[in-house]
Amino acid sequence: MKVSASILSCDFSNLENEFKKINGLVDFIHLDVMDGHFVPNISFGPDIINSIRKLSDVPFESHLMISHPLKYINRFKSSDIIIFHLECDDNPEEVISEIKKMNKKVGISIKPKTDVKNLDKFLEYIDLVLIMTVEPGFGGQSFMQDQVEKIKYLKHKVDIEVDGGINDKSSRICEEAGASICVAGTYIFKSDNIRESVEKLRGF
Ligand code: DX5
Ligand code: ZN
Repeated sequence: MKVSASILSCDFSNLENEFKKINGLVDFIHLDVMDGHFVPNISFGPDIINSIRKLSDVPFESHLMISHPLKYINRFKSSDIIIFHLECDDNPEEVISEIKKMNKKVGISIKPKTDVKNLDKFLEYIDLVLIMTVEPGFGGQSFMQDQVEKIKYLKHKVDIEVDGGINDKSSRICEEAGASICVAGTYIFKSDNIRESVEKLRGF
């Protein structure tokens, strides 16, 4: 299992130190962008992401929980992977094509209530699917076991990443179902031993 560290639950007053804790340990850094409209919370945007790029060599993936990705996508210059939501207000084909024009990898995420079959027609054009295993908007929520069926449905069709309530136990459940990347915020940044926690997420 690959591991993506969500900085949503880290100490924003000392990001340099927080990045030091995970550099060399995780495969991706996960950046949760929230607009206060698509989700009931506001986090940070592309300018902050671009300015913290220098703090790490780990690839960045931006998870856009925003209603209008098309309007902002070209500002996510320092992200290696851009993930948008199928439930956004823009046309998914157009969003995919804009991300590809920037030579970035493309992911589509779905919220817990969205039917996984709605992704079918996009699978051949994207690099990964991000299955939300909590309602998007906040860190520290509990893993929704009923989302595991979606992972099983997508297995062998596309790379599958899971996000929300991921710990040592839920990462194993997702891996067995077919996921190959897990996002974790609380489990990593609130840990007393980050190296050990990341190894547990990987399944070592
Ligand atoms: C939730 C975000 C997640 C969140 C995960 O809307 O997309 O990436 O940071 O946090 P934990 O691991 O605490 O559930
Ligand atoms: Zn996320």
